[in-house]
Amino acid sequence: MSIIGPRKPLGQHAPAGQALAKTLSWPHLIALGVGAIVGTGIYTLTGVGAERAGPAVILAFAIAGAVCACAALAYAELATMIPAAGSAYTFSYVALGETAAWVVGWSLILEYSLACSTVAVGWSGYLVGWIQAIGVTLPPELLAGPHGGGIVNLPAVLVALAVMGMLVAGTRESATLNIVLVVIKLVALGVFIAFAMPAFDANNLHPFMPYGFGSTEVEGTKRGVMAAAAIVFFAFYGFDAVATSAEEAKNPGRDLTIGIVGSMLLCTAIYMGVAVAAIGAVPFQTLANSSEPLALVLRTLNQPTAAYLIALAAVIALPSVILVMMYGQSRIFFVMARDGLLPASLATVSKRSGAPTRITVLTGLSIAVVAGLFRLDEIAELANAGTLVAFVAVGACLMVLRRTAPTAKRLFRCPAPMVVGTGAILGCLYLLHSLPGATLVRFLIWNAIGLAIYLAYGRRASRASRASRALRAKGGVFD
Ligand code: ALA
Repeated sequence: MSIIGPRKPLGQHAPAGQALAKTLSWPHLIALGVGAIVGTGIYTLTGVGAERAGPAVILAFAIAGAVCACAALAYAELATMIPAAGSAYTFSYVALGETAAWVVGWSLILEYSLACSTVAVGWSGYLVGWIQAIGVTLPPELLAGPHGGGIVNLPAVLVALAVMGMLVAGTRESATLNIVLVVIKLVALGVFIAFAMPAFDANNLHPFMPYGFGSTEVEGTKRGVMAAAAIVFFAFYGFDAVATSAEEAKNPGRDLTIGIVGSMLLCTAIYMGVAVAAIGAVPFQTLANSSEPLALVLRTLNQPTAAYLIALAAVIALPSVILVMMYGQSRIFFVMARDGLLPASLATVSKRSGAPTRITVLTGLSIAVVAGLFRLDEIAELANAGTLVAFVAVGACLMVLRRTAPTAKRLFRCPAPMVVGTGAILGCLYLLHSLPGATLVRFLIWNAIGLAIYLAYGRRASRASRASRALRAKGGVFD
């Protein structure tokens, strides 16, 4: 067997009895996309980004958005060409072979799980700020993990477990509720811009890049525009969660294209507005390291009611991000198990709700533990590392399949695929390089563990390897 491993043929279908029901159309997918994209990245990491880049966090948003736009275009083409659950993992299986698919799938598990944990911690920050604003004091040891002098971030744990329960109850209800939460979240950001923009002061933008452009270490923290881009990148992803639900789309060609490209464009426009409004309204040092920077900006501007409402909206709506990410995570896990790379017993779909219950529970519990114990920026950076590797693979898949399957049916054709694919790969590698060294080490350890599991189990047990062995035994060839 080669190092690359077998490839999945284009157009392979799910085995009988293990297909997911086709229940989603494009409004659900846009809501899934916006639900996953707009979250802790803009609500909380804007502050961390400002601390790392100064006012140039605005530029950091633009850079991360441009890289994500390339990845989104590649995703849209691949998702409509290979409308099966699993997104980047499934694309890699078809285009790059099983070993690359495993690394991507394993990295996506990290991305989705840690993104859920990050948002749970961000949510907890707004909840605590909001509760304290109405005059209630909470026991501090239950509001932060050991890194912050506490025992556990209990609100973060509870929100992760609550979302897990919603997913176990079934996709359909969750997607509809998601639409309501998305509306609340967007209205709140609109209100923020309306209140902060009139206070815009160009002096707050000088000096624009106090820490320079490239990511460099200053007193143990990475600083510079690229260091900020590598963390606020978190704010942009989530559109890939739409692609993970491709198999459940009623009309994949139309629904996925509108869902992925539309939600990405909408969110980028909103972010630019929020970042300019926040940085223009107060000196960037005010935002740095706040656990609820948007509410803080409004309080600083003497708008306590607006601050209170923004925090309330975040508290109500951020769980929608956890919902979509946890949904995406369970689907990746599900497809890897269905492919035989993880134990098949994990891929059982509940007859009542149509959801992969076991995987969802396993995922939800892990997310809750991480959210309860670890630091927001460190979790976000590790989630970003997983996502960046997946996006590199997606850029490669786009270009490889244009060569190896030029005539395959593509319902959406990415413009200038070689430029977009190369842009996605180089952009993501540069962002990856801009992450802190400790994050990259943790990411390598995660993937080393993954590869050990693959070599010990998945490489032999996968459906594609078994099919390949069976074919070889009969004297045939399997690519
Ligand atoms: N993009 C999502 C967020 O910012 C993960 O919360």
